[in-house]
Order: sequence, then C-alpha cells, then structure tokens
Amino acid sequence: MTVLITGGLGFIGSHTVVDLIEQGYDCVILDNLSRTTIDVLEKIELIVQRKIPFMKVNMLESQALRNVFTQYDITSVIHFAGFKSVGESVQNPLVYYQTNLISTLNLIDIMQEFDVKKLVFSSSATVYGDLHIPPLREDLPLKALNPYGRTKLILEEILCDLVSSDNSWSIALMRYFNPIGAHKTGLLGELPFGIPNNLMPHLLKVAIGETSKLQIFGGDYDTEDGSCIRDFIHIMDLASGHVRALDYLKKNAGCEAFNLGTGIGYSVLKLIDTFKEVTGIKVPFEIANRREGDIVVSIADVTKAETLLGWKAKYNLSDMCEDAWNWELNRKRGE
Ligand code: UFG
Repeated sequence: MTVLITGGLGFIGSHTVVDLIEQGYDCVILDNLSRTTIDVLEKIELIVQRKIPFMKVNMLESQALRNVFTQYDITSVIHFAGFKSVGESVQNPLVYYQTNLISTLNLIDIMQEFDVKKLVFSSSATVYGDLHIPPLREDLPLKALNPYGRTKLILEEILCDLVSSDNSWSIALMRYFNPIGAHKTGLLGELPFGIPNNLMPHLLKVAIGETSKLQIFGGDYDTEDGSCIRDFIHIMDLASGHVRALDYLKKNAGCEAFNLGTGIGYSVLKLIDTFKEVTGIKVPFEIANRREGDIVVSIADVTKAETLLGWKAKYNLSDMCEDAWNWELNRKRGE
C-alpha cells in the first residue's frame, strides 16, 4: 500500500505526506524542485522520524515518471504537482497548459498502464468562477476565470470522462478554498517563491518587517467592512482531507468532487485583526484598488466532505495565524 505523492515537497503536499505517514501509509514523494527545495524533505523526515523515498522527476518526461512505477509498488496517487499562480497563468498561459495538463495526462496514462486506478486530484475552488452566491456546493455549474482555473476545470472534466469510460477508476477532486497556516511544529509552511501572490505570505512579509505595508485590494465591496471574504482553512486540516479522501477511494469507485474549507467566511480585514490579537503585531496596511478578477465572497458548503468523508476542519482562524507566524519566525531564524 504505497501512495505516490506528486509535488510532495510543496506547501500542501508536504503537510499531506506527514499526515499520511502518521496514519500508517507508506509514501513515495515525487517533485521536480522547481518551486520548493530539498530541505523540505529533511523537515518532513524530522517530523515523522523516518526516511521517505524521494525521486526528483519532471512529470513532462513520461519515461522518468514510468520509472517511479517500475521501482515502487504504487497502489494510489495524490497529485499535487502543478503551477498555481493566477497572475502568472494570465501572463504565460501556454506554460500553464503544458505543465498542468500534460503532466496529469502523462500520470493517468502511466497509472492505467500499471493498473493503479485510485487518484486524489488537487483542484481548486476557482472552478466555481463568479457564477454563484456562496456557500458553494459541489454540484453547481462551473466556470474558469483565467488559464490557471481553466487547467483545473479541464482536468476535472478529463478525469470524470476517464471514470465514465472505465468504472474501475476511483477519483476524488479536491476543491480547496484558501489554505493558510503552517505545520504545528513550525518546520513546514509556505515557501515564498518570487513575489508572493497570496494574502498570508504578503501579510507575513510585512509582519516580519521585510515589506513596509500590506495592500488591501478593495475596501468598498458590498461586505460588512468593505474587504473581500474568504473561507480560510488551516493547511493541516486541508492535508487531513486528502487522507480521508484516500480512505474513501478504497471503498468507492466513481469521480467525486469535494470542497475543502471550514464553511465559515472571514474578511481580509478580520484576518489582519485576528493576526494582531494572536501575535500582538499590528500589520500596517493601506486600502488599494480592487484586484482584477477577484471574487467578492468565497465560502464552501462542506456538507459533502463531512457526510461522505467523515472529515471536518478543526482549526480556527487564530490557530491559522499563530501557526503561520511561528513558521515565519522559524524560517527567518534559519536564514
Ligand atoms: N489580498 C489582498 N492583498 C494581498 C493579497 C491578497 O488584499 O496582498 C486579498 C485578495 O484581494 C483577496 C484575498 O486577499 O480578496 C485572498 O487573496 P489570495 O490571493 O490569498 O487568494 P484568492 O482567494 O484570490 O485565491 C485563492 C487561491 C487560488 C484560487 C482561488 C479560488 O490562491 O489559487 O483562491 O479558490 F484559484
């Protein structure tokens, strides 16, 4: 029972590997190290107190990917590898289509060849587009707003087509809301590559003094305090959702989408407030123009994950802020 985790040294992948090992699974990690570093492997091994097989593989190279399946007795796959920046995808759509689509096609082709038919796929709440009033349920119509979102949407459709053509496949599509926080040990968290796009990495840079001010994109939305609302979820909760999905796939065939969120929305300004309450740090900010493409409110309906996976987020916004800050301090000390 060995699980292959592609992108296993990334933010979500690394936390999921730790959870899988703690739940008794054997893992093989695959990563091309383009958006992370090999130190993450050492940190994972430190937490779980054992060596974990790792292969540096570019998933666009089929033969290299096939070698992983030849070398290890893989029985299921959690596929995280891929690019995830909305802005970058608008600037370089072809790189996104090539990387996210071709690598996944190579993966499912080789899985088929080796008769490995259980897959947990890293999707995103971005597939809901701007069509609906939250809370967002998995059976709503979907829409892509940018090339990144389109890669997720296309891949969800491809994977469901695959299941329709061969019902021995079991696939779970995990739609993430806004993962933040870090591992409780402070050893794993989100590594900033280039200029951070997301809110929490920006906030941490300001809190640690590397940037002077946080820009809040839009203060005049039709919300309680004028800033956008998101369903922030602790990265450790997100990780455990994947382990539950894998357990679910052992007993259930088909292609099912699952939201991973808390079901609770907090505004951007509320996050900054909570960060101050928890850490004592007042993050300087200014209200800037709205960011193009932002949706105003994004909140998950988490009934399906609760009912079918028996999973529910257990950490709150304060935990997310505390653990993110602890990670940032540790990272800074290690520099
Ligand atoms: N924000 C700021 N200032 C910043 C960064 C972000 O005010 O410096 C605001 C954004 O405008 C937004 C909120 O903080 O209102 C959250 O922004 P993020 O970039 O952290 O996250 P998004 O909700 O835009 O995007 C996330 C994922 C995407 C995914 C999307 C939809 O990063 O991959 O959710 O599910 F597509």
